[in-house]
Amino acid sequence: MATLKVEDLSISFGGLKALSGVSFSVEKGEIYSIIGPNGAGKTTVFNCISGIYKPTGGKISFKELDITPFKPHQVAQVGIARSFQNIELFAHMTTMDNLMLGRHTKLKTGLWSGATFLTPNSRAAREEIKNREKVEDIIDFLELQASRNQMVMNLPYGKQKLVELARALALEPEVLLLDEPSAGMNLEEKEDLIFSIRDIRDDFGITVLLVEHDMNLVMGISDRVLALNYGQVIAEGSPADVQKHPEVLKAYLGEG
Ligand SMILES: Nc1ncnc2c1ncn2[C@@H]1O[C@H](COP(=O)(O)OP(=O)(O)OP(=O)(O)O)[C@@H](O)[C@H]1O
Ligand SMILES: [Mg+2]
Repeated sequence: MATLKVEDLSISFGGLKALSGVSFSVEKGEIYSIIGPNGAGKTTVFNCISGIYKPTGGKISFKELDITPFKPHQVAQVGIARSFQNIELFAHMTTMDNLMLGRHTKLKTGLWSGATFLTPNSRAAREEIKNREKVEDIIDFLELQASRNQMVMNLPYGKQKLVELARALALEPEVLLLDEPSAGMNLEEKEDLIFSIRDIRDDFGITVLLVEHDMNLVMGISDRVLALNYGQVIAEGSPADVQKHPEVLKAYLGEG
């Protein structure tokens, strides 16, 4: 049983077919990358999976559950979290608060119950402690301690991307969709990111879907790669095979 299965996915914007008949499936524990030139439809695939766009055709299943009609919060609740290409954090809040907010979408006790009004040892208070511990773990794991109490807007872009990843991870998802996580990172940050993504899979058993332009990163980390161009699949397979696939070479050359 595939963890995530996309069948014949299509979506149009006006006259533009952003995706036509895209199919692929991702197994549990895979690191699966989607590549392709600008405008190929990579982010659109993520937007369809996460319920932000309603596809005009096709089906998306998560462990055999049809999630095609799901709204974004329902997709998150079943265990699929994502980071955004254009960072969608609360810029005026700290790293810690952004992650706590991410966690609170899971909390049954409501959004701001974590404030000062909790009865000691109540269920809500205990949940709040658990949330804090989990968020602290993620901050340690991604080595974000120095950014912990800083407003997100004051962090360098590469660090903000890492906080985006952390926020998605704070939801403890089964599947993580990462849209260009290395954008704006320097070489050292990219190397750390590679280790982090591997650990996310190896230590937490999370299935990772990755959209990336950095080919070294993609080729070094992915179990399989899907290449899109003009909203269609042009190749799928091992990183080595996809990298030298004639259609892929043509698509990238065509871009100049
Ligand atoms: N909401 C929208 N309204 C209109 N057109 C859209 C919308 N979302 C995406 N598109 C179009 O769909 C196509 C695919 O866009 P998408 O953002 O998925 O590309 P991408 O592969 O993620 O590109 P990039 O590498 O630049 O991020 C593009 O032509 C884009 O302009
Ligand atoms: Mg994109």
